[in-house]
Amino acid sequence: MILVLDFGGQYNQLIARRVRENHVYCEVHAASNFDKVRELRPEGIILTGGPQSVYGSDVSLPPRELFELGIPILGICYGAQAMAHVLGGTVKPATVSEYGKTDVEVVDGASKLFAGVEKKSVAWMSHTDRIFAAPENFTVTAVTKDCPVAAMEDASRKLYAVQFHPEVVHTVEGMKIFSNFVDICNCARNWQMSSFVAKTVAELKSKIGGGKVLCALSGGVDSSVAAVLLSKAVGKNLTCVFVDHGLLRKNEAAEVKAVFSGFDLNFVAVDAAERFLNKLRGVTDPERKRKIIGEEFIRVFEEVSKKIGAVDYLVQGTIYPDVIESGLGKSAVIKSHHNVGGLPDFVDFKEIVEPLRLLFKDEVRQAGRELGLPEHIVNRQPFPGPGLGIRIIGEVTAEKVRLVQDADAIYREEVARAGVDKNLAQYFAALTNMRSVGVMGDGRTYDFAIALRAVLTSDFMTAEAAQIPWDVLSRVANRIVNEVKGVNRVLYDCTSKPPATIEFE
Ligand code: XMP
Repeated sequence: MILVLDFGGQYNQLIARRVRENHVYCEVHAASNFDKVRELRPEGIILTGGPQSVYGSDVSLPPRELFELGIPILGICYGAQAMAHVLGGTVKPATVSEYGKTDVEVVDGASKLFAGVEKKSVAWMSHTDRIFAAPENFTVTAVTKDCPVAAMEDASRKLYAVQFHPEVVHTVEGMKIFSNFVDICNCARNWQMSSFVAKTVAELKSKIGGGKVLCALSGGVDSSVAAVLLSKAVGKNLTCVFVDHGLLRKNEAAEVKAVFSGFDLNFVAVDAAERFLNKLRGVTDPERKRKIIGEEFIRVFEEVSKKIGAVDYLVQGTIYPDVIESGLGKSAVIKSHHNVGGLPDFVDFKEIVEPLRLLFKDEVRQAGRELGLPEHIVNRQPFPGPGLGIRIIGEVTAEKVRLVQDADAIYREEVARAGVDKNLAQYFAALTNMRSVGVMGDGRTYDFAIALRAVLTSDFMTAEAAQIPWDVLSRVANRIVNEVKGVNRVLYDCTSKPPATIEFE
């Protein structure tokens, strides 16, 4: 296995994912957790990037002994600078920061890390400090125009460092570099998603034993995969709770109930539409809305758990993008995902269990297939926990829920009928908080505008707006304004993420 020591960079789970793509098991632990090295005895260690400077006040630096264990180490960005600094090289702030795509030249043809890598290629840089002089016994293996040490190594001690980010797709040779590092570590490349499933089920079994578990099940792929993992681990001690918060898509509650009452699971459906709407009355701030919805979910789960009695664990299908966007460690809060940053301070369970916390969406789908979930669940487009609550900009009312449900149902129906849904990662209608003037029949209208969104993405951390054929869009627009009373205008969102996000709030 490869151990990733996390110094707080934005792309750190991508590093883990690249290792998994090489079929090697990988764990990410906080950089302060050097004890993990002795506990896990990894075949290789990766030191990640991070926002710190080696000269910062409460900076975390790897101890010198780490480099003396004989385990291959790859330092990336800050991890590279930390390696250079601890081993006696020189790291200094640069006069020009390098940010974005940068030309890199490999200057040591014998480097195992760069075996098969083009001599000149493009890499993703994001740094202000840089290594000016490599430590003793190190050779410089790559340079850029502004970076005298874009990569360095001491092959005899199996220490490697790159100033750029090989984990980001913009680094053209990134995958090859990871593959080379895996070879340097002599890893067996035998990890599969089935190994994740087996290991997770075994861990859950030993953690939970004969305890009772409640699983928050929305019917989406993440919570469904989490529920099946748990059911394999604890059997009938699991109860799955589906909360209808009144902010679901049209007919969704009935559909989810129909699917899951067919599984061999304890399944409880709670109709909580009125209490969620009451709590949201008059609230317009997106973060407040998210927090109210997140808290109310927990209160409903607590009530169900009291009825069952002696439930210790609450299981959520949280995945990695939920965690990172809610602000993990030193990363910024983008939005408080209902199941992470939206949780209340007090949660009346012994523990919240999140077996998918480190996976990306496409990896969760793979795990779902491993577990034998049907394709229509595995391939469901994601639907956020706060539901239409974050697709209605501003205050949520029952009337606005109806508008967005009806518009969204038409959009989904037409997109599926045209057969363009297969390529889309996510597509939906949202209700803007904007009213504008229209003319219908011979009369004036002053009604809401619906925004349509469709995106292409695999990791949901970045996304591109999809180009839906114009005839499909115009059919959707026509049907929405004709069939949904209260809407007189339909807009299409062409923005990518970043700078926008996929959802509107
Ligand atoms: P954004 O809007 O952040 O969305 O670009 C990225 C992905 O996450 C989903 N999303 C959520 N899922 N709880 C969830 O379960 C949430 O609070 C939440 N907020 C966003 C969103 O639908 C998209 O797939």
